[in-house]
Amino acid sequence: MTKKILMVCLGNICRSPLAEGILKSKLTTDFYVDSAGIGGWHSGEQPDQRAIKTASNKGISISNQKARKISVADFDKFDVLYAMDKENLKELLLLAPNESGKRKVKLLLNEAYPNQNDDVPDPYYGDLEDFESVFTLLENALEIIATKIKKTANQ
Ligand code: 4NP
Repeated sequence: MTKKILMVCLGNICRSPLAEGILKSKLTTDFYVDSAGIGGWHSGEQPDQRAIKTASNKGISISNQKARKISVADFDKFDVLYAMDKENLKELLLLAPNESGKRKVKLLLNEAYPNQNDDVPDPYYGDLEDFESVFTLLENALEIIATKIKKTANQ
């Protein structure tokens, strides 16, 4: 049963806040969706203004989110930890306190498109168009993932 879902990227201000906002928009409040960063450089900050604007243009508000760094306790608290890219995946596997924690770590796009090993590209050093293409990529993948999560939630 997957009820508590953590989205993880490097800074927790671009990709994972978008993934959190999009997935929340597809699930009921029976589910708990959060996000965190591998690094804590932006802890306490709002998502990047370009992420806020991109989401807002699509009717999703992420401006109340606050960045935070992943903690070891997250591996117990969440049922699944989705890494936005293979570098995040590697870091999460190093941080996982035990085998049970490691088994919860997955590459996000593989959940929608198995075995492709695709990354959600980091738009931080890009422009608004890069944020828009990340949004579209996440929106399509999370539609598939939300359907899977809802199906398994009652098993
Ligand atoms: P994110 O993007 O991992 O999608 O939130 C980044 C944001 C900030 C930094 C790197 C990536 N940074 O180096 O500060």
